[in-house]
Amino acid sequence: MKDKILFFDTTLRDGEQSPGASMNLKEKLLVASQLEVLGVDVIEAGFPISSPGDFEAVHEIAKKLKKTTVAGLARADKKDIDAVWGAVKCAKKPRIHIFLSTSDLHIEKKLNKTRSQVLEMAVKAVKYAKTLCKDIEFSAEDAGRSDMDYLCKVVEAAIDAGATTINIPDTVGYTMPLEFGQKIAQVMKTVPNISKAVISVHCHNDLGLAVANSLAAIENGARQIECTVNGIGERAGNAALEEIAMAINIRPHYYNVSHNINTKEIYKTSKLVSGLTGINVQVNKAIVGANAFAHESGVHQDGVLKDRSTYEIMRPQDVGVPESSLVLGKHSGRHAFFNRIKSLGYKLPEKNMQELFERFKVLADKKKVIFDDDIMALIEENVESQKEIYHLDYQSASSGTATIPTATVRVSSAKDGKTQILQEAACGTGPVDATFRAIDKITKMDIKLTSFNLKAVSSGVDALGEVTLKAEYAGSIFMGRGTSTDIVEASVKAYMQAINKAISFEQKTLENKRSAKQ
Ligand code: KIV
Ligand code: ZN
Repeated sequence: MKDKILFFDTTLRDGEQSPGASMNLKEKLLVASQLEVLGVDVIEAGFPISSPGDFEAVHEIAKKLKKTTVAGLARADKKDIDAVWGAVKCAKKPRIHIFLSTSDLHIEKKLNKTRSQVLEMAVKAVKYAKTLCKDIEFSAEDAGRSDMDYLCKVVEAAIDAGATTINIPDTVGYTMPLEFGQKIAQVMKTVPNISKAVISVHCHNDLGLAVANSLAAIENGARQIECTVNGIGERAGNAALEEIAMAINIRPHYYNVSHNINTKEIYKTSKLVSGLTGINVQVNKAIVGANAFAHESGVHQDGVLKDRSTYEIMRPQDVGVPESSLVLGKHSGRHAFFNRIKSLGYKLPEKNMQELFERFKVLADKKKVIFDDDIMALIEENVESQKEIYHLDYQSASSGTATIPTATVRVSSAKDGKTQILQEAACGTGPVDATFRAIDKITKMDIKLTSFNLKAVSSGVDALGEVTLKAEYAGSIFMGRGTSTDIVEASVKAYMQAINKAISFEQKTLENKRSAKQ
């Protein structure tokens, strides 16, 4: 039987450390559930000691998941380990993940300790964690730059102390594939008790080698791969889950290993993560980029028409990319629409389906044909929608080469149990700026736009424009997303969503503080 490669997904921990990628609880639960459907073996749900929000997210994910192991990250410290255990102990399969640096650079400069002190700390932490949980992972941070003899000593001691998974991270993305493969081979060969643990790797992409290094590790005996969806993560990111899973599938004789990833769920998972984090996938990204299956040159198109395998090593449907067919329009009924949603792989509550159908009809009035991408954009916007404190009734903006961009906005506000109609006008540097200024006059909130991203979701001049933006309010960042055939309207929807999220968050924080006092 083939050896199995375990997929340890850290989208919700290392991935969430990407600048600006933070997600709220509801969004993290959506990602975690989708990762379970995708078939990952372990989900690292967060770093519980880092904030009450992280603790809550790890705890809720641990309660929710049915078959996936849920891990939380801890430094080699009792308080961190207790926090992880508090958050994951309710999981069907809990794991405590402890990390501690083993490179001399980190030991001296970051920890201000000696090698023997670090070895002692590792053993003490693993032994303590083992009294709480049977599944313990130990990570030798900056292993890629650690002295190999010392690294092997720490690995042996951690296994003796009870670690069941040993992770060898290339924390700063420094090693070369051949070199990293040799390091894994050396650990496998020289650590006497290595057969008692699974060897894992966690590669960063600073030199664009995270996937190559992870695959080299598999060739040399690693059996757990730490990765993220779309390769998001600290700095240049982590190894991309989808690239490793597909490399194993496309080259079965080369790797001769199996895995549990249902690759048909890859595209949907990628869309969900990019939509919720606001980190767009580059168009030429392997597997999930918009151009991954596009053939532009005449020679290639001719070859593909004769036989796809001339220029395609995998089919779009293998990774769940929907055929962009002209399936629906304004005459399509509820039944056809609901069937399409199901065939795109979404399972939504009845209430959301009805709401979506109403919005689909509005869109179909504006746009002759509705592509699968349009429907996916509507679904993702709907999934994110939440309690509206401010509801957009009306917006209008005018701009041109000889006019000052001006906007009028009318919203209804359900603040403090009363509905109020509020209206304002403003000028700006462009129609979007003018509209946002009018909204700011209405809400009187000190909210600052920190990023704004506009892209066409589908094709043609009547394509849906999707705006993802981030806004800072009271020290927290809130993401908003809106889609429309009119880009000012898409921008307003996104801005209003971020504002509503900020107000809900503020209210919830106040409620929590009040109940903590009582
Ligand atoms: O990059 C790294 O070394 C990490 C550890 C916590 C595993 O993220
Ligand atoms: Zn990392």
